[in-house]
Amino acid sequence: MNKKIAVIGAGNVGATCAMYLAEENLADVVMVDILEGMPQGKGLDLSQAGPVRGYNAKIYGTNKYSDIKGSDIVIMTAGLPRKPGMSREDLLNMNASIVAVAAKNIKKYAPKCFVIVVSNPLDLMTFQMRKITGFPKNRVLGQAGVLDSTRFRTFISMELDVAMTDIQAMVLGGHGDTMVPLPRYTTVAGIPVGELIPAKRLKEIAHRTAVGGGEIVKLLKTGSAYYAPAAATVDMCRSILCDEKKIMPCSAYLTGQYGIKDIYIGVPVVLGSKGVEKILELKLSAGEKKALQKSAATYKVHLKDIK
Ligand code: NAI
Ligand code: 2OP
Repeated sequence: MNKKIAVIGAGNVGATCAMYLAEENLADVVMVDILEGMPQGKGLDLSQAGPVRGYNAKIYGTNKYSDIKGSDIVIMTAGLPRKPGMSREDLLNMNASIVAVAAKNIKKYAPKCFVIVVSNPLDLMTFQMRKITGFPKNRVLGQAGVLDSTRFRTFISMELDVAMTDIQAMVLGGHGDTMVPLPRYTTVAGIPVGELIPAKRLKEIAHRTAVGGGEIVKLLKTGSAYYAPAAATVDMCRSILCDEKKIMPCSAYLTGQYGIKDIYIGVPVVLGSKGVEKILELKLSAGEKKALQKSAATYKVHLKDIK
């Protein structure tokens, strides 16, 4: 039997996840959305691309949560995206109530699944998802670090005019302007990036990464990025479904690692068939650790604002 992935929210990120999942033949996909007809229409359209694109995954859309029954993974993308001038935190309470409804339904219809949260503000919505599902912490995680790292990788490849795929990077912290790009853990075909790009320029590239989501919001004007966010999410799905045990920066629940606890924040994890199988504790410099703790502290304050 094929694996099954449910995508809550069939908007830009959700439908693009469905498309990438199908193109990789990773799983059958059901998209759930409140808009009548829209998820069904996108499901049919994506199915009709199958014969030409060479996939056989079943893809369909629905307005009923009961259709997520038996899902191995649920990707949570429902919610409102940012408009120009909005921070991810502005979305807090609007999206917290959408996540709460989804979480109750996930618990009811797919009690054994893994949940990957994408809805913003990411680290807080992931906390909310775990709180309401009551799932163990290895089964609820957030997508942000893979996106933020791929942005960093892309900007470095543009700077050096070398293959993007040769670049490995690690961006930790919350998915917001306090995120912590780590040039010390960034390499180009194994060469430390600091040997190729001067520190001052690297700092500028790290800053562009931290505000990278906002750069796209400003350009699009009607919403936020979705191709790279969906690609990042599907990478995480593959690592879980195929037990790849990839090391990825994900929003994970911390219980004292890096001196942080009782919060979701981006850290390197091993992602395999048990979900978050391990949280890696890097030997951060004092400055890096301080930046990560500052990022976590910001989100701890916002957690109290969820009504
Ligand atoms: P979108 O507006 O294109 O899609 C959101 C979908 O959610 C819409 O189709 C809407 O009808 C649906 N929806 C709203 N309330 C719902 C409910 N109660 N139940 C089911 N569906 C519901 O937005 P987009 O671009 O897909 O972004 C979705 C979310 O992901 C936003 O919160 C955005 O900020 C976040 N995001 C997070 C990223 C990350 O790296 N963590 C990256 C990109 C977006
Ligand atoms: C992004 O980083 C908006 O969180 C979204 O593109």
